[in-house]
Amino acid sequence: MSAEKSEWESSQFRKYDLNLEEIPRLHCDDPRVDELMQKNQPVLITGSNLVKSAVDKWTLDYLEKNLDKSNHTVFVSRNHKFKYFDEKKIYSKTSPKGVEFSPPTKRVEMKVADFAKKLNEWKRGDERLYLQESLNSSMGSTIVEDFLKFNWQFVTEKKNKYHWGELTSNVLFVAMEGNVTPCHYDEQQNLFAQIAGYKRCILFAPDQFECLYPHPVYHPHDRQSMIDFDRPDYTKYPKFKNVKGCETVVGPGDVLYIPIYWWHHVESLMRGGPTITVNFWYKAGPTNLEYPLQDHQKVSIMRNVEKMLLEVLQEPKEVGPLLRTMVLGRYSEP
Ligand code: FUM
Ligand code: FE
Repeated sequence: MSAEKSEWESSQFRKYDLNLEEIPRLHCDDPRVDELMQKNQPVLITGSNLVKSAVDKWTLDYLEKNLDKSNHTVFVSRNHKFKYFDEKKIYSKTSPKGVEFSPPTKRVEMKVADFAKKLNEWKRGDERLYLQESLNSSMGSTIVEDFLKFNWQFVTEKKNKYHWGELTSNVLFVAMEGNVTPCHYDEQQNLFAQIAGYKRCILFAPDQFECLYPHPVYHPHDRQSMIDFDRPDYTKYPKFKNVKGCETVVGPGDVLYIPIYWWHHVESLMRGGPTITVNFWYKAGPTNLEYPLQDHQKVSIMRNVEKMLLEVLQEPKEVGPLLRTMVLGRYSEP
């Protein structure tokens, strides 16, 4: 791996000072794939042919020719980071005047031809773009044909075996080299299928919650880490120094299993042109409350406690003091 690693390290836009292990890279027939997935552990799966009908075919040019000519959702950022935010949470019941928040990216609608032109003409200092949109049956007949030829048997077998819920969406991601999706977790199981270009994916288990300091649940950046990986503020977030994670680089044809509630940071490497990924997002399966609870179940419980307190207190600022009063000197370490 080391020769390959030096190759992709030089194509990284940013360097991070993190303690990371390698995510196992296994052929889909290897029984260890199932052992890991059964335990909600990440694994990079090769040879699945999940998106074979798109690999070597889907390029920016191909998408320009074959994606429908209507508008598509593109995020625009002044820097390399595309930190997700929930527009619905800017104004909500608990923050009717809106939380103090300036959106880090702009969401615009754009024809694929205009998106491709901007990417082809991009120069240092220009805004960066990231197309992110759910695939659907009106995306153009050729794209739909390729989509129908995905290896649905592979994903359906996984879904059934691990008792996941229904497939909620297939999101198409088309990124410029160097784009970064900052560290966050999703509340769904994800099979992350790489079609073109290379992405470095850094993952952290749900038990790293304390080291990653997520924004409060009411905040538009809910589920996102407050830490800026480029310039971590260790005074404010001291436990980030202790964070332990794992990483891999996904290339065309690879499928990364990102388990539910696992944190992930994704960087498009400067190697192989714009990156194209399709995510397969599945709802959590029925909750199986076996004790001791798993770490991701505890994160879910914490989210529910936060939501409940916000609901009854109706004021985000009161949540912290109430929790402190309840815990300090009673449930806290002496
Ligand atoms: O940029 C990305 O590919 C992000 C994917 C994800 O957050 O699931
Ligand atoms: Fe995600």
